Amino acid sequence: MIDIHSHVLPLVDDGSSSIEMSLKMLQQAYQDGTDAIVLTPHLAYPYRFINPKEKIESLFKDFQRIVDDEHIPIKMYLGCEFLFTKDDFENHFHEIRTLNNSQYMLMEFYFDCDGEEILEAISHVKERGYIPIIAHPERYEAIQIDEDVAFKAKEMGAYLQMNKASILGRHGTRAQECIYRMLENHLISFVGSDAHNVTTRNTFMYKSYQEVSYYFGSDYANAIFKNNAKNILGIEG
Ligand SMILES: [Fe+2]
Repeated sequence: MIDIHSHVLPLVDDGSSSIEMSLKMLQQAYQDGTDAIVLTPHLAYPYRFINPKEKIESLFKDFQRIVDDEHIPIKMYLGCEFLFTKDDFENHFHEIRTLNNSQYMLMEFYFDCDGEEILEAISHVKERGYIPIIAHPERYEAIQIDEDVAFKAKEMGAYLQMNKASILGRHGTRAQECIYRMLENHLISFVGSDAHNVTTRNTFMYKSYQEVSYYFGSDYANAIFKNNAKNILGIEG
C-alpha cells in the first residue's frame, strides 16, 4: 500500500513529537503492508504550523538518514498538507511543497467551510497549473450534507483522498456514512493514514484496505490504496 498523507516528520506540527515516535510510526506502517509513505507536514498559517518548502526539505533529508541507519525498508517521499485560505495561497504559494515534486497539491479546509469555498479553491489551484488533492473530504460538513460538492470537485479536475480511519468510524458516524457513499460512487482516488502518532491516529491501513476490498471490490481497493498513488509519485514497478 501507499500512504499519501501522514504527519510522520518529527517535531514540525501536531504530528510525531519525537524521532523515536516517527521511527515507530514507520515500523508499524511497514509491518502492516505499507511500502511507501508521503510525509505531509502541515502548512497551516492560521494554526502557526509554518513549514515552508526549504525548511521541510532539509529536515526530511536529515530524517531520511536516520531511517536509513535504522534499516527500515519503507520508501519515503515528501509533500505537505496546505490549509487552504485564499490569502495564504496567494501570499505563500511558493512555500507549498507538492507531493514528491509532482503537479499534485494536497490541501485541506476548515471542517465547517462552505462547499463553494472548496470549489473556488480548486479553480485557483488549477489556474496555477497544479492539480488539487482534497484531503479527507468526508470530514467536511459541506460534503457530508451535500455530496454534490464532491461530484463537482471531481468534475473540475480535483482528486479526493479519504482518511483510512473514516471507513472504520473513527472520525464519527457522519464521516463514515459519507465515505461509504463516496466509495460507492468511486469518488475517492487515494487513501492516507493522516497518522499523527502511534496510538489513536496511527499509520495502520490494512484493515481499511480489507473493508474497501470487501464492500467495493479488490480492483478499486488496489487502485486507491496503491496504483493511483504510484502514478502520481512516479514509482516504477
Ligand atoms: Fe493531515
